[in-house]
Amino acid sequence: MNICKTIIEVRDVLQGIRSEGKSIGFVPTMGALHQGHLSLIQASKENCDFTIASIFVNPTQFNNPEDLKNYPKTLDEDVEKLIGAECDVLFLPDGQEIYPSKPQLKISFDGIADQLEGEFRPGHFDGVALVVSKLFNIIQPNHAFFGQKDLQQFFIVKSLVDQLNYPIQLNMVSTARESNGLAMSSRNMRLSAAERSDAALLHQSLRMAQERLLQGGNIKLVKEEVQELFDVSERLALEYFEIINTDDFKTTDATKEKKKVALCIAANIGQVRLIDNLMLIS
Ligand code: PAJ
Repeated sequence: MNICKTIIEVRDVLQGIRSEGKSIGFVPTMGALHQGHLSLIQASKENCDFTIASIFVNPTQFNNPEDLKNYPKTLDEDVEKLIGAECDVLFLPDGQEIYPSKPQLKISFDGIADQLEGEFRPGHFDGVALVVSKLFNIIQPNHAFFGQKDLQQFFIVKSLVDQLNYPIQLNMVSTARESNGLAMSSRNMRLSAAERSDAALLHQSLRMAQERLLQGGNIKLVKEEVQELFDVSERLALEYFEIINTDDFKTTDATKEKKKVALCIAANIGQVRLIDNLMLIS
């Protein structure tokens, strides 16, 4: 696997690939790779001739400096995993390469970025949109792969691609989970064994709520039931549980356009913040 640390290097390699008429699949990440990331690489390999991953812990998307400082870094293992997954290139820029000076450009969204993650992590999606658009311009892939785990992020990137006319096909890959249902996340590395086990409650409550809603259950009661599950948990604190329409990420009564309805949850366990979601009809 070729590791490119500079924009010039990576553009040079990709130009050669493009001139051979090969399609390029891109998987942006912040490292601390797990099976979820590798499933994106696999999806890229199935759909494209050439796969490039990036690892860059993007400071502009962290609204909490402690979270940025504590973000796990496991570069050697990441490189091994990418080699194992037969990724063709790793783009590994440093902060200077991506942000040579403080960015003067700000991308912000009306509506879709204000709810859920946007409400609890102000500015987060502006930072995601900025780095993703920079990476798209550097890599110029044919396809890009994002996880359903970060559902709102996927729709933010989709909006970016639609509104700025990027000629990139976006692909959403389903959430990889631990055997207890816990969505895989780089942040899970910071959980103790007991916390990992308790954190399965996020997925369990989503499944319970999905079942109740599909049986015609009342949303208010379902939300209360989810809150009760968290009230009895000693370690977990529920931040939000919402039923939304993926068009605008605003809450919905779940009776119309059922295929667009998603159940989204966020909870804190110790210092670690976890998110998960399920489509109402998966
Ligand atoms: P990161 O959290 O490293 O995630 C990189 C990609 O992996 C995202 O598309 C995310 O949705 C996907 N992913 C994470 N956990 C997953 C799981 N359990 N199953 C499937 N896919 C999963 O998301 C980011 O980085 C950043 O915001 C980024 C897009 C790289 C911009 O900085």
